[in-house]
Amino acid sequence: MTNSLAIVRTVADLRARVAEWRRQGQKVALVPTMGALHEGHLSLVRTAQKLADRVVVSIFVNPRQFGANEDFGRYPRQEAEDAEKLANVAADLLFAPDVTEMYPEGFATNVSVGGVTEGLCGAARPGHFDGVATVVTKLLLQCLPDVAVFGEKDYQQLLTIKRVARDLDIPVAILGAPTMREADGLAMSSRNAYLSPEERRIAARLPAILRELVAAAERGDELSALCARGIAELKAAGFASVDYLEFRDAETLAPVSRIERPARILVAARLGNTRLIDNMPVGVPA
Ligand code: PAF
Repeated sequence: MTNSLAIVRTVADLRARVAEWRRQGQKVALVPTMGALHEGHLSLVRTAQKLADRVVVSIFVNPRQFGANEDFGRYPRQEAEDAEKLANVAADLLFAPDVTEMYPEGFATNVSVGGVTEGLCGAARPGHFDGVATVVTKLLLQCLPDVAVFGEKDYQQLLTIKRVARDLDIPVAILGAPTMREADGLAMSSRNAYLSPEERRIAARLPAILRELVAAAERGDELSALCARGIAELKAAGFASVDYLEFRDAETLAPVSRIERPARILVAARLGNTRLIDNMPVGVPA
């Protein structure tokens, strides 16, 4: 049976709903998304439900985080299907504003974060993290949740948002939840829908190669040689190009040449017209 889900489209209506819950002494969680929801998003909702009495999910395909030649136009939009999925996992409210509600005439503010946004997707997608930081700051201030949950799949994004909340004293706990994967290991992503059957088969090599590199790094193998090997293996598997494949510090995202603290391997690679990202934790060699 399908339950129904309340949908609000204005900041005023969102705030009225949240204020009512607050009057009842309830805790509120926010799960920001761009829609095209898959099991990864639904797992964020389930995590949020363990932390709060009420869960708000936002769906907004944010134009400010897409570059001029990126996929803003073709990004999947399927609100009715998404609302049904959210109703089935018993989310409490969908906030689905339109562009003019988020960026009214005259909007001129930009939230720009240093440090963790340098390199990786920050280099490959100029302006992307300003767009993410700006929209997430707005969503947090519009909803004022106790906790907001984001996927670790977008690891650089997660650290950027943690930095914003800390630096701007936004009174919210930012929680990262583990990446959900398909049976063959591919990280769940709305962009997987772009892949042809042949590309989808090749895409599964990405997490497999990452896992091999993690194991080798944890045995103490030299990191730059591992990165070169990984890039060569991705290209041999059929990836057109690799934007980056790097080991970074898990907390600061500073580049690392030896693993002396918990680290992360992060990758972005292109398969046909689709750009896939993934990352995995790397432990300190024994
Ligand atoms: O990860 C996403 O879906 C988006 O970048 C986010 C956090 C909802 C901001 O638009």
